[in-house]
Amino acid sequence: MQRSYSYDFFKTSADYVLARSGYTVDLALILGSSLGSLAEEIVNPIVIDYADIPNFLQTTVDSHAGKLILGDLSGKKVACMSGRFHYYEGYDFEQLVIPVRFCHLLGAKTVILTNAAGAVNTSFKIGDIMLIEDHIKLIGGSPLRGKNINEFGPRFFDVSDMYSRELRDTAKKCAARINMKLREGVYFYMPGPQFESPAEIRAIRTLGGDAVGMSTVTEAITAAHCGMKVLGLSLMTNMAAGVLDQALTVEEVDATAALTSEKFKELIREIVQEIA
Ligand code: HPA
Repeated sequence: MQRSYSYDFFKTSADYVLARSGYTVDLALILGSSLGSLAEEIVNPIVIDYADIPNFLQTTVDSHAGKLILGDLSGKKVACMSGRFHYYEGYDFEQLVIPVRFCHLLGAKTVILTNAAGAVNTSFKIGDIMLIEDHIKLIGGSPLRGKNINEFGPRFFDVSDMYSRELRDTAKKCAARINMKLREGVYFYMPGPQFESPAEIRAIRTLGGDAVGMSTVTEAITAAHCGMKVLGLSLMTNMAAGVLDQALTVEEVDATAALTSEKFKELIREIVQEIA
């Protein structure tokens, strides 16, 4: 089915939240699997269930909370989505524009996207954090398919700096300050929900992917369309299928995310502080 939303459809969601908060935000955070606990560090939080936001989506994943938290983090006004939406939950790509356009209408000029991913690059280790330099999405259509909404951006637009070089440089500076080694590479989108086959992972490696995951790219494309700067960070929760002689489990993904979350949160706090 072709879904087509009007500008007012998105504005209704944002206006509801702006009326509750009374302020616009500087930046948005969309947090991936088990990385949502950063939201607990937001000061003066206003917590809004996704279910209360008109025209919003509902999360169906256990490790994603389904709450919007507005407040202060490292001296900035932020909107934090603890729980994101995925194609594998049954949403169409066209529906996945909703959260990002919503953040844009809340005032966010920048969005930080985090995710759990499998390491395709065999020099990566479990627990490494990778700065997304670019992505590859060969499966499915664009989230922007359909009637273009000019208020958000032009139909045809450049994405050669989608994962802002300036923000990546900032992230590298912040990582160095806290003695953290950051990887940098290409995030390869796969639709899931099954993990990839070992043959798919070999193909992804040949095509130039360093990490593989089931989120983030629709959000990055939507954000780029409406002129937002994007920073993407992937946590290597597991080696991708076939790299090690063992089966992949969601328990492994969640356990690594839990073990690494303090380090990840420290980095994001530094970055938020640094972002203009
Ligand atoms: N593949 C896809 N998505 C993932 C993976 C993976 O190996 N690990 C965490 N999210």
